[in-house]
Amino acid sequence: MAPIKAALLGFGTVGQGVYEALKTHREQLQAVLGEEVVIEGILVKDGSKKREVDDHVLITTDFDEILNIDGLEVVFEAIVGEEPGFTYLSRALDKGCHVITANKVMFARHGRTLLDKAEALDRYVGYEATTAGGTPIIRSISQLLQVNEIYSVEAILNGTSNFILTNMREKGLPFHEVLKSAQKLGYAEADPASDIEGYDAFYKLMILSELSFGETPKWEDVERKGITEVTAEQISVFKDWGYKVKHLARIRRDRDQFISSVKPMLVDADYPLYGVEDVQNAIMVETSLAGKVTVQGAGAGKLPTASAMVEDLTYVLQPHSLRRKKNSASISEEGSTEDTNST
Ligand code: NDP
Ligand code: HSE
Repeated sequence: MAPIKAALLGFGTVGQGVYEALKTHREQLQAVLGEEVVIEGILVKDGSKKREVDDHVLITTDFDEILNIDGLEVVFEAIVGEEPGFTYLSRALDKGCHVITANKVMFARHGRTLLDKAEALDRYVGYEATTAGGTPIIRSISQLLQVNEIYSVEAILNGTSNFILTNMREKGLPFHEVLKSAQKLGYAEADPASDIEGYDAFYKLMILSELSFGETPKWEDVERKGITEVTAEQISVFKDWGYKVKHLARIRRDRDQFISSVKPMLVDADYPLYGVEDVQNAIMVETSLAGKVTVQGAGAGKLPTASAMVEDLTYVLQPHSLRRKKNSASISEEGSTEDTNST
């Protein structure tokens, strides 16, 4: 059987994780998908860096070369910033590919546009990895929404901030030392200001809002604060009193109004997310039928994030998937992926 041809945009922490996961879990994936998944091309920014990949893999700084890969079915995106990620994924959808992204900055801003485009073209946009790393929150909320109404979401959404706050409290380590560890471990963003100033958690909360409520508050109406003003002295005093500082992202829809914030808050041992430590994320969703549902897991890092992206791949490309059947049919009919949009 012909392999499933895929490309990677970005080969940093996440891109390398996807490449590795596809290799180490090759047999499991082949059993689920019926065919092998092969990375044919990788887009990078700096073409001069040495990359540890198989000889056949095209390494390029030119996105057109990626799109021109014969029979390309899937594009994984793990680059940085709104652009060029949005343009690349739009073009990949137009070309007939399914796309899977980890890029929350881009998806918070352009996710609705990409989802609408994909629906019109009968393609798929996977975005599990944009929010809470390896924690399956997008899939969980999507499933709950089949019957439930969602009233609120309350969550720890930035692994780096939670890692810093945990290590300051439990080990007495200084803020910047822990931030450096988070960078070394691949948890932090390329510009870690996004983590520690609350933007990263804000983008994720907006993605969850769009999914849960079909809309977001006006972005400028959401109170957003990071952890940069939380001091070691405060953490130590609060610890003596039995409290923790947690960076919480919260949103509730009350009739047509949103109440929403992203900021550090004091919590005691009775609070359900009190025990969520280190790089873990957790999301509590309040629903109309299922009550409160909490999902917890690794919120950042190479392999947990890769897991989310590869799970998206299995979701769309399993043999029973209608999209997969239509895509394959039109590839064999047309002899290329050029015209798969017409399915
Ligand atoms: P890295 O900084 O480790 O890697 C970024 C990669 O993207 C690099 O390979 C870089 O190329 C490439 N790149 C950047 N800009 C461009 C461009 N304009 N054109 C082509 N390639 C480009 O980032 P991460 O892997 O950590 O993160 C990637 C994405 O995934 C980000 O959007 C991030 O927010 C998101 N994410 C990260 C998680 C994590 O735990 N790290 C978890 C979930 C999501 P080069 O190698 O040449 O520099
Ligand atoms: N920098 C992000 C975090 C990566 O620390 O949560 C996962 O999205």
